[in-house]
Parts: sequence; structure tokens; C-alpha cells
Amino acid sequence: MSVVVRYTEQGAVGIITLDNPPINASSQTVREQLKAILDSVRAQPQGIRVLMLQGAGGSFMAGADIREFELDFIPLPDPNDIHGLLESMPVPVVAAMHGHVLGGGLEMALACHYRVAHSGTQFGLPEVKLGVLPGSGGTQRLPRLLGFPLAMELIVSGKSLPAAQALKLGLLDAEFDDDWQEQALEFCISVADKNASHPMLSRLPAVLSDKDKAGLSEKIDELPAADQGGYAMREAARCVLEAAQYDFATGLARERLAFLRCKETNESKALRHAFFAQREAARIPGLNTANLALRSISKVGVIGAGTMGTGIAMSFANAGIAVVLQDLNAQTLERAQQQIHHVYQGSVTKQRLTQAQALQRINAISLTLEDTQLADCDLIIEAVFENFDIKKAIFKRLGEVAKPTAILASNTSSLDVNVLAECSGRPADVLGMHFFSPAHIMRLLEVVRGDHTAPEVLATIMSLAKRIGKVAAVSGVCFGFIGNRMLEGYLRETEFLLLEGATPAFIDKALENFGMAMGPCRMIDMAGVDVAAKVVLEQKKAGQLGADEAYRVAVQRLFELGRHGQKSGLGYYRYEGRNAVEDPAVLEVFKALAKQHDIAQRKDITADEVVQRCLYPLIAEGYRILEEGIAYRAGDIDVVWLHGYGFPAYRGGPMFYAQTLGEQHIRAQMLELAASRGNRFAYWDVPPSLGV
Ligand code: 3HC
Repeated sequence: MSVVVRYTEQGAVGIITLDNPPINASSQTVREQLKAILDSVRAQPQGIRVLMLQGAGGSFMAGADIREFELDFIPLPDPNDIHGLLESMPVPVVAAMHGHVLGGGLEMALACHYRVAHSGTQFGLPEVKLGVLPGSGGTQRLPRLLGFPLAMELIVSGKSLPAAQALKLGLLDAEFDDDWQEQALEFCISVADKNASHPMLSRLPAVLSDKDKAGLSEKIDELPAADQGGYAMREAARCVLEAAQYDFATGLARERLAFLRCKETNESKALRHAFFAQREAARIPGLNTANLALRSISKVGVIGAGTMGTGIAMSFANAGIAVVLQDLNAQTLERAQQQIHHVYQGSVTKQRLTQAQALQRINAISLTLEDTQLADCDLIIEAVFENFDIKKAIFKRLGEVAKPTAILASNTSSLDVNVLAECSGRPADVLGMHFFSPAHIMRLLEVVRGDHTAPEVLATIMSLAKRIGKVAAVSGVCFGFIGNRMLEGYLRETEFLLLEGATPAFIDKALENFGMAMGPCRMIDMAGVDVAAKVVLEQKKAGQLGADEAYRVAVQRLFELGRHGQKSGLGYYRYEGRNAVEDPAVLEVFKALAKQHDIAQRKDITADEVVQRCLYPLIAEGYRILEEGIAYRAGDIDVVWLHGYGFPAYRGGPMFYAQTLGEQHIRAQMLELAASRGNRFAYWDVPPSLGV
């Protein structure tokens, strides 16, 4: 068995080091070895007068080992027993922390008598983000230390605290800078010398005033419903309140039962799936990145200084990478400059950046009219608007301008990356980097591998994605790649439902109640009706639309009417500032279209029908994408939808959701829809791999 907890001594200080890479998760083996050390020190303390508990590597401990949640029991030794052992040691125990101190890591620290940390440490109980609650004492010890309101806020939100704040709030006894390990040792010696009894949180009273109780009850009422992603939050909140109601041991036992219940919910399974899928998506099957010489990226060029290109430029500047933003139009560049200042100044106002940091990022982006300025860039991303001819010309030019080792990328959301690669004359260097708007905020990056993209080019971009804080998933080349290709069926049914008489607000509400961050009509209004319509028109131009005359006529008509969405004040809704208001005029537009296309309007459309008709085509397309090898894994598809399209994390993404519903069920429902609605245009065809 490998050694994951080490014990050494330095004078009177016994030092226990957790050494379970990468994040020192509290696995069964960690607990076994830690227990053995604690038992042995307790039996024979010899000259030891204080214990220091620390972590090797980048963190103290970022939590329990989430993989153990797949078991239907907690493998012994029980973390609560370990914490009890720590608390009752005959010598004081000091948690000396750095990096991430999360979940079970913070719970272990709360069982120590003192807590000190490096100034860069982050503390939190993020369990609710995995659909569980702190299951080894967090809900019982934290309110005893910080009081109920603050403990409740931290536990229910899952948010992290930086060390300085943790010190101010009393979570830490001391905070140290660079020579923190030496200072932590000195701290240990100082508490050993005190000879006083050492603080044990489990022995403190948990006092909840009536005023706090009333305030917290109001906040709990505002949490998402239990079946809408709020189950774990509500259970966690209940356990926190119970700290005031029961003695410590009972509170601990009730917390444990609640933890075990949470662990088995679909919500928790979905969130755990999302956690691991996101990390798995970064891996390219069959590619051993250790054997590849990745290209170095220290300067990036972006062509096109519109909203998208400017957002992309800021994504790199945020990570300290120099950017050249090029556009042929001086006015566009001027607007980009203003947008960059506006965004960074906003961050200063909101105290997210200091003035100096903002200036550094602004200065990292240089603007130019000349594409020759891109010659020394390591990566050049084309981000002009979606016109194939212009993009082809740019790639031809890039073949001439870019240095031989440069990677060339297109931010196209739907066009054929292989064609662009051929235009450049160096297809091995070319791939797609599909950012989502606003690019400096949205975390998803669809990386499109062309037929000839070199492995090291793909691997370089996946590693760069992590560097700039993006969640990347790889897609093969096809119309719309993973995300927009699946979006197509979702929007198709949205528009048919509008023609059949459902209002934009009704459709949006149905899908928002399902959990989508934003319904489809509000989403298109925000992204731009013109942008959405142009995708359909480009397909039409390329002869890729089927024979259905009624296909996506709604978005095309709104575009013709100049209802371009939020930016024009009119779209699927009418806008009062940013507020979407229902607009009877738009219903008349849909009514007229329905008449024109011989579609009967109905009054019996239900929210369930909206959800099924919009989601099943999307899911079916996901199965086709897997069948064709466009995505490597179902989890990658989920990552795209979770991070790019606001699919509810507590449903795990469309492919995971299909599993929870049951593939057979979806298959049967699609066949029923085909029978009831007719299937002239093959809209309800079931992909071969779905439900077999
Ligand atoms: N259990 C198991 N594996 C974990 C893990 C955990 N708690 N946390 C991270 N890992 C793994 C990741 O899967 C990844 O593995 P891989 O290299 O094989 O893909 C590896 O550690 C590195 O993780 P990241 O890629 O996420 O590394 P980062 O440096 O980007 O982030 C982190 C580090 C902030 C610690 C991030 O990993 C994280 O947020 N982890 C989860 C923290 C968490 O939720 N803790 C609470 C767990 S639940 C709990 O403690 C229950 C208790 O109350 C009983």
C-alpha cells in the first residue's frame, strides 16, 4: 500500500503530512493511515507536545474523495471518528494549511484545535455544488465557530473565502506569508507552551437567536425548490439549524443521514457526473500528451474587432497573454478600444480588479489595422462575422502572413473548418476555436478538430484553454458542431410551437421551469434575431434546408421585420430597457405565418409538451453526434450544454438527463410524437443508438 500520510518529528512538534496527490482527498487509505498515526501518538506521545497537520503538494485537502460516493456506504474508518480522535488528542493539534481547504478538508481543520494558513489559501464547503452537504461535521462545527448566519451562507452557497477574510471572521487563528511553514511551526510551539485547555468546537454551545432564526427561515424559503436543484441546499440548511436544536452527537448523526440521502439523489449524481465530465473532456482519446511537444503560446492575434473578437482578446489578456487585435475598419477598432476600457473599468468599480491590474490588461491588447502585425503571433484566431467567402480569403492570407509555427483558428460557429484549413495551405496547423458570447465571460470553448489538424496543435489548444480558464470540449467538423447542431432541433420545435399558438413567454417559462438558464425566445433575443436568422439563411444558401416550407419561418420573418431582439428593442418580446415584455403584435406575426403555412393554432399546448418537443430532438441529435464520432464521449456533449447553453447542472446535461429518463422512454415518446404529429420531414426519426 502506498504511503499517503507521513509522520515526522521536529523537536516537540509531531508533523503529520497528508500526501495523496493531486489534492490530498480524504480517501479510505488516507483515513486509515491518519488513524494509525493518531492512535500511535496517543498511545506513546513521548516528547511530543503539539501536532501539526499539513498537506504536501498544492493543497492542504480539497475534500473527501468524491469517487467514494459511488459506494452505498462510507468506507471505514469513518471521517467523523477521525475528527473525534483529532479533537480529543492529549496534545493540541494545529491545522497548517495552504492551497485549497474544501469540504472534508475544512471539516478536518475544524476538528483541530487551531487553524493557521498561508495568505493564498481558499476555504469553503462546496458540497452543495455536488448535490450533497458537508457530511463530516461541517454543519455542526461551523455555526459554533462563526455563528449561524455566516455558517449558513457559506454552506448553502458553497462559496469560498480567501485567507484574509477567514482570519477576520475567526475561522483562522493566524495567517502567514511566504515563510509560512516556519511561522506555522513557531505557532505550534507557542500553543504547546500555553498549557491551557484547547478549544474544541464540539463542546461549544450553538446559540441561535430568534432574530437570526427568523432571518434564516426567510432565506431558506427563497432557495430553489427541492426538485429544481435545491434539495441539497435545503437539507444542508436544515442540518445547520439543527445544530441549535440537538446536542452535538445527535446533530452529527442526523447530518450523516442527510448526507447519505443526498448522495443518492439524481441531483447529486448529475452534479458529480458534470464534475468528472468537465475534467475528462480535456483528455483526447488515443493521444498521450506527455509524448507531444506542445507549441508555446505567448502572443495571440485576433482578426475582427467586433463584440466577439474583442471578448476573445480580453480572455487572453485576462490570463496575462499579449494580444494583437486586428480589424480593417478604424471605427470598429475604436469601438473595441472603448469596449475594453468599459469592461475593465467596470471590474475596477466592482472591486474585482485594482486600477493597476486593469491597466495591465488594457495594455496587453494592442489594436491594429495591419494584418502584417500578426506575423509574430503564436496563435491567430479569425473572428469576423459568419461569411464563408470572407473567412476563406482570410485563411488564404493567413497562409502567407503567419509564421510557420503559428496555429491558425477560426471562431466560426457553423462553417466547414476543413475548407478553411485547405485555404490556408497548411491544414495541419488549423482548427476551430468556437467561443461563446460574451467571450471573456462564457466558460465554454468548443475546439473543432479538422481532418488534418496535427495532434500537437489540438493538444496545445486544449492546454491553452485551461490556462485561460475555459472549459474545453472537442468536436469534429459538421454543421454547427456539437452545440449549435443540437440547438437546431430545439429551436425548430420552439418555432413550430409559436406557430401553433404558444406564446414566447409560455415556452420560455416551461423550459426555465425545467431548469434552462434562459428560455429559447429570450435567448435568441439576447444573441440577436439577426444572428440566428443568418444561420438559417446560410443553410438555405448552401442548399442544406429540407423541403419543409414552414421550417424556422418565425425567426426569418422577425428578421425581415427588423425585430432583431433586445438590441433593437423588439424581437420575440418588446423591451423596456432590459425587461422583456410580452408583445401582442408578435403573436399576430406568428398567427399570420401559421395561416400561410396551413398550421392549425391550438389552445391545449401544455408545459410538458413544450419540454418534450424541444428537448427530445436535441437529445436525439446528441446520439447521432456520438454515432458519427463527432464527439468522443457523451460527457463532452453534456459539458458543451452545461457551460455554453445554460442546461441545468442538476440534470447533468442532455445525455445524462436521457439516462435518468431512460432511453427506452425517450424512444417510445418520439415514436408517439411521430405518429401523432406526422413525420413527413423525418423530424421524429429515432437515431439507431437511442434506446436499443
Ligand atoms: N475527489 C476526487 N478527485 C478529485 C477531487 C475530489 N474531492 N477534487 C479534485 N479531484 C481530482 C480531479 O478529478 C482531477 O483529476 P484528473 O486529473 O484525473 O482529471 C484532479 O483532482 C485535479 O483537479 P482539477 O483538474 O479540478 O484541478 P484544479 O487545480 O483546476 O482545481 C480544485 C482544484 C479547486 C480542488 C477542484 O478540483 C475542486 O473544486 N475539487 C472539488 C472540491 C470539492 O468539491 N470538495 C468537496 C468534496 S465533497 C466532501 O468533501 C464531502 C464531505 O463533506 C464528507
